[in-house]
Amino acid sequence: MQRNDFWVGASEFLRNPAMVGSAFPASTMMVDRMLAPLDWSSISVLVEYGPGTGRFTFAALDRMRCDATLLAIDTGAGFVESLRARNDDPRLIVIEGNACDVNRHLADHGLENADCILTGLPFSTLPPEQAEAIMRETAIALQPSGMLAAYQMRTAIRPLIERHFARIDQDYEWLNIPPCHLYWADRPIDQPISASGLKVCV
Ligand SMILES: C[S@@+](CC[C@H](N)C(=O)[O-])C[C@H]1O[C@@H](n2cnc3c(N)ncnc32)[C@H](O)[C@@H]1O
Repeated sequence: MQRNDFWVGASEFLRNPAMVGSAFPASTMMVDRMLAPLDWSSISVLVEYGPGTGRFTFAALDRMRCDATLLAIDTGAGFVESLRARNDDPRLIVIEGNACDVNRHLADHGLENADCILTGLPFSTLPPEQAEAIMRETAIALQPSGMLAAYQMRTAIRPLIERHFARIDQDYEWLNIPPCHLYWADRPIDQPISASGLKVCV
């Protein structure tokens, strides 16, 4: 871990503990385990919610096709500034914004629906309406063949995923501070009306 990552993570956590969730960046073991099942050859648009200090972001770039795009969305200004300063990869777009506006951000950048959405958002401490809105927008933002990959300290996310995805695989990673539940969900359940144009965040 770069020394600067520690200070950026700690100061953003102290500023907003409920939204950041943990002061510690993800371990290499958790990053590798979470990313291993993803089919990198078929991913042309990857969206990451809450990249934080970029542990998953740079590992994903290492695995991504050279013509793919990674849209990383974070509400934390300190995280965004630090990621932008370290980014020299034209495939990475870093946005200061809210995950619930994912469909607008994809459209703003002329991108198709995502092949994969990776999230470390602390769903259990987000306001429930916001957590629901983010998961609904996520199902809309994915291709029908797309996948959601989520790591979480708690299991509160599972019923939320079940409402919007037809299939879920689950695992657990002990070697992280704190240990985390890992989820991979696919077959997003169709939304009759796209909510992407609506202001859904609270
Ligand atoms: C647990 S941290 C992610 C840790 C990071 N992936 C790592 O291991 O280095 C959660 C991140 O989600 C961001 N976040 C929280 N709510 C958000 C939202 N609604 N939209 C986008 N980012 C959000 C926080 O600023 C924080 O960077």
